[in-house]
Amino acid sequence: MGEITNVNEYQAIAKEKLPKMAYDYYASGAEDQWTLAENRNAFSRILFRPRILIDVSKIDMTTTVLGFKISMPIMIAPTGLQKMAHPDGKQRSSHKALWTGRNMHDYWKGFQSVVKIRECATARAASAAGTIMTLSSGPTCSIEEVASTGPGIRFFQLYVYKDRNVVSQLVRRAERAGFKAIALTVDTPRLGRRESDIKNRPVLPPGLTLKNVEGLDLGKIDVANDSGLASLVAGQTDSTLSWKDVKWLQSITSMPILVKGVLTAEDARIVVQSGAAGIIVSNHGGRQLDYVPSTIMALEEVVKGAQGRVPVFLDGGVRRGTDVFKALALGAAGIFIGRPVVFSLASEGEAGVRKVLQMLRDEFELTMALSGCRSLSEITRNHIVTEWDAP
Ligand code: FNR
Repeated sequence: MGEITNVNEYQAIAKEKLPKMAYDYYASGAEDQWTLAENRNAFSRILFRPRILIDVSKIDMTTTVLGFKISMPIMIAPTGLQKMAHPDGKQRSSHKALWTGRNMHDYWKGFQSVVKIRECATARAASAAGTIMTLSSGPTCSIEEVASTGPGIRFFQLYVYKDRNVVSQLVRRAERAGFKAIALTVDTPRLGRRESDIKNRPVLPPGLTLKNVEGLDLGKIDVANDSGLASLVAGQTDSTLSWKDVKWLQSITSMPILVKGVLTAEDARIVVQSGAAGIIVSNHGGRQLDYVPSTIMALEEVVKGAQGRVPVFLDGGVRRGTDVFKALALGAAGIFIGRPVVFSLASEGEAGVRKVLQMLRDEFELTMALSGCRSLSEITRNHIVTEWDAP
């Protein structure tokens, strides 16, 4: 394998290394996967208008997110089940055979002895890069295990489960463990139809549990054993979730709340009224409602709706430093990456995540220099033109 030179290359390596069921779970989107593809494609409909003859010998990419200084506006989105992303590369053919065969239980028993703690690897890589990691509420490492990896700025992503006691306990644990904000995911009242998951029916293997919810009463779902992921979400997340629950959440925590999954100006205005601290423009990486627009196309509308009163972030399809620049030019205060983290974890563990963050940092810095921008505040709407701009 030659040197990896861009983030996209990790997807092909992960596909080769991972059992099909796990790769499909990470890679796929909902139904026709139109939104999944559009999240990438839409970036290619934005071109640069670089400025020249500006001294760009010093580039400052630092920024502040909810009062926390970070080294660059590139952060890590929550992705559940990261431990599934690391089969032992050396023995992958036999692992693959076992995964697709009947002997899942034995496979996973053996596998547990070689698997490393993945969310913790991500936390360490984020901290080394001086940026923020968002821990999923469905991780395979616990809040406390991630906190114990050392210092770092971490956000906790929350699905609101039907049992509000479960939610309160999670929030309290995150607060105690030093997490700095909640990313409240609001686009999953029900799980999107991901057809490869319907075919493969991924389950949590024996011994691998959803660490943050084990021990809590999740009703009839046995998360430690045969947990069809779809049934876990369908059975436990609360489809009655509404704006009043945002108020309730504010009443039980002093952590600022980012609302993740906003795609319209109307909802951005309500977020502002709700007193939440910020917005993440997200379509869940194309995994929920198919045929919603790409996040980069929805971004400007949401930014207008937010009226500068709360910061607006974006995730979905960001794979290049140029994508980061385009998002900032359209008004984002920063971006989050999802799949590049799981694919690089599957390929090279913590070193892979570090490399992804470094490559995006380098590309983004280069884009700033070649566009004539020395700091994030110098990136403007005039530095880009989109296909959807009026002629
Ligand atoms: C996700 N995403 C997600 N979001 C969330 O709020 N909670 C979660 O537990 C998960 N889990 C998850 C697992 C996997 C495998 C993927 C690919 C995604 C969505 C994620 O936070 C983010 O919105 C998208 O991944 C961003 O798009 P890209 O960067 O993957 O294109």
